[in-house]
Amino acid sequence: MQQPEEKKKFVQEKFSSISGKYDLLNSLLSMQIDRYWRWKTTRLLQEFSTGPVLDLCAGTLPLSLELTRQVKKRRVLAVDFCEDMLRAGVNALPRDERRERIFPVCGDGEVIPAPGNTFWGCTVAFGVRNLARTQQGLCEMHRILKPSGKLLILEFSRPTNIVIKPLYSFYLNKVLPGVAGLVSGDKEAYEYLASSIAAFYEPEELLSMMREAGFSAVERRPLTFGIVSIYIGIK
Ligand SMILES: C[S@@+](CC[C@H](N)C(=O)[O-])C[C@H]1O[C@@H](n2cnc3c(N)ncnc32)[C@H](O)[C@@H]1O
Repeated sequence: MQQPEEKKKFVQEKFSSISGKYDLLNSLLSMQIDRYWRWKTTRLLQEFSTGPVLDLCAGTLPLSLELTRQVKKRRVLAVDFCEDMLRAGVNALPRDERRERIFPVCGDGEVIPAPGNTFWGCTVAFGVRNLARTQQGLCEMHRILKPSGKLLILEFSRPTNIVIKPLYSFYLNKVLPGVAGLVSGDKEAYEYLASSIAAFYEPEELLSMMREAGFSAVERRPLTFGIVSIYIGIK
């Protein structure tokens, strides 16, 4: 079992090492379904069509881009502690006005570099599982939101369907690290992906941690046989 600081260093190094290939592998390995997951997550912030959103663990900015695509005037603070991921995202930004509305900042999700009561929405796609101190991160997400603001966590979960479960497990543990290792040159990063999904909290546990951080009306919406889930909470 890694200590929090060890996990942080490991996660930072792993994402740094795959940053150049992250987007390609994402699309390849999820057969582009990840685009639908981010679209769906962003739709859930529709009621906040003005006001800034914080995209935490923003990585190469795919969710920040969707957030600015769906709402024309929305501004997004994109926070990630891996500079190489942000840099890869910034270098690949489309040459349109959205680049003016995405503000990348290198910072830690456990000590978010932003004042309290500032954002109408906070999104975290495939990032919560990587936090070394999940509860502390959730408290920070709560702090930076305005009262009535909405938290949306998109995260892998474990399918329970008896047909899908073994197929998914085979794919995740046997196929994915091999293919991803070949393309990215870092098999360990994708073995970490499989093991971090297996070790992550049960949905009910995460919902209860969100409540503990101060969120109300918490709920989970499974997508694609429960391979991923969107967790929703209101400040
Ligand atoms: C799987 S990527 C997700 C990127 C992006 N949100 C997406 O939808 O593809 C996870 C990201 O979380 C970041 N991360 C992990 N722990 C973090 C922390 N404590 N603070 C900030 N970013 C963190 C990593 O650097 C990585 O870029």
